[in-house]
Amino acid sequence: MRNNPIWQQLTLHAQKTKLKDLSHLWQQPDRHNKLTFESKNIYLDLSKNWIDDEALNHLCELASQAGLKEAIKKLFNAEVVNTTDQLAATHTTLRDPAHPNHRNNTKALFSLADAVSTGQIKTAFGKQVKQLVNIGIGGSYLGPRLVVESLTELQSESRIPVYFAASVDDSLINQLFQSIDIEHCLFCISSKSFSTVETLMNARAIQTKLKEISGYQPTQEQSSLMAITANTKRAIEVGIPKCMVLPFDASVGGRFSLWSAIGFPIVLAAGKEQFQALLHGAHEMDLHFRNKPFTENIPVLMALMSIWYRNFMGLSAYSCLPYDARLRSLPKWLQQLMMESTGKMHNVKGEVIDYPTTPWVFGDHGQLSQHAFFQAFHQGVDALPLDFIGVLEHNSPAQDFLLYNMIAQGAALMRGKEEDHSMKGCPGNKPSTTILLKDLSAESVGQLLAMYEHMIYTQSVIWNINCFDQPGVELGKSIARDIQEHVENNTLNEVALDPSTMALIKKVTE
Ligand code: F6P
Repeated sequence: MRNNPIWQQLTLHAQKTKLKDLSHLWQQPDRHNKLTFESKNIYLDLSKNWIDDEALNHLCELASQAGLKEAIKKLFNAEVVNTTDQLAATHTTLRDPAHPNHRNNTKALFSLADAVSTGQIKTAFGKQVKQLVNIGIGGSYLGPRLVVESLTELQSESRIPVYFAASVDDSLINQLFQSIDIEHCLFCISSKSFSTVETLMNARAIQTKLKEISGYQPTQEQSSLMAITANTKRAIEVGIPKCMVLPFDASVGGRFSLWSAIGFPIVLAAGKEQFQALLHGAHEMDLHFRNKPFTENIPVLMALMSIWYRNFMGLSAYSCLPYDARLRSLPKWLQQLMMESTGKMHNVKGEVIDYPTTPWVFGDHGQLSQHAFFQAFHQGVDALPLDFIGVLEHNSPAQDFLLYNMIAQGAALMRGKEEDHSMKGCPGNKPSTTILLKDLSAESVGQLLAMYEHMIYTQSVIWNINCFDQPGVELGKSIARDIQEHVENNTLNEVALDPSTMALIKKVTE
């Protein structure tokens, strides 16, 4: 990659100090117009970034040379893009109304949702389902949680309230059992593989608790447990009735799966129409990504900006800052999407690459972040790219207050402040991106999330890596399995582990 002439030109260009001088960049005629973009419910302002025409043109050229156009076609034509597993990545088919996957998926989800909410399906206590607990982790948790929070919190109450149990934790499960109405509760085991230890342990803990309660009589017709999985066989083996298993295809990546059966909690909490609108919004972004030239293509431009900062400006972190409590789980969802997808050091041929990939992703509700880590943004030695995300709903003075605060932060970071007392001075010239959503409708949320998915895919094409696998996550899991096994069999002396790890195991087991 480093020998690529465009890469070299970008490297040289990035060394020009004037590129980090925003007041200099603002002398460029028509800058604001050139660097703001709009598609449906999304408005993107890149003008506060360390970028000029020359850099942007080179970056678009880099994308072309990487074969992005063909790669986008491959994604939408369901050709193999997950080269490790030799699979297509079919999440976009689930939101394409003309695709059979869309019809089959919504049909299955909606008929189960109808059966549950009309009382045709009852819990193992013979009671109507009034609550759902989603037991799942990673992609089987973060997406549904984010969307449920985004779409249901301004409504007085969601249709069927959804609770989430992700990590293994006795106190969490105990707390959960205290806050739910067990007899009316449907427990949904969400796991693509149906082999994730955390999820299966939580599922077992819940099964054990249920069995201790009198009146618990599971049958094929009455069940307090259901499953969402790409491994139906396993789900049936652990005792979930077949009619309570919502399947989805292995070609839908876990962190790209909220559009699939994994979105069932969204359907129960927000309703079928909202779920359809979510898919519709995502499909609108799919069309934009497929059809717009790179120079106007929002997810492509977002990816190019992140590559510019990561590979040419040398910035290694990135922060996502939604200024709306309903989007508070967006940074966590994006963290998995970005870091698990592009935290890679091998290209698609398995060769070690010589350029950095994902930045370290973090973030939180913008307002809370202001009072936690913004000091470092304003006066810290480093800079980092930031996404400010605001929602243009003027429903209350509080919402306006949040938006003004968000806008003020971007301006303050860029402008800085000179002070007589030098300690109080802020250098300014710190970059940021602003994304405005017309509203927090299901359609807008769909557009936003699909935008980030396509940003990740674009990055991976330019970095020449596979964004649909996660082999690194396996190592920690397998060492944990080893430790547990050796502790249980009293064979720790056979394990070849370092002194620090051995001492820690000893501390834990003594
Ligand atoms: O963290 C690894 C991972 O495999 C993620 O990619 C995935 O989203 C999560 O575990 C949960 O996996 P599953 O849905 O198979 O339980």
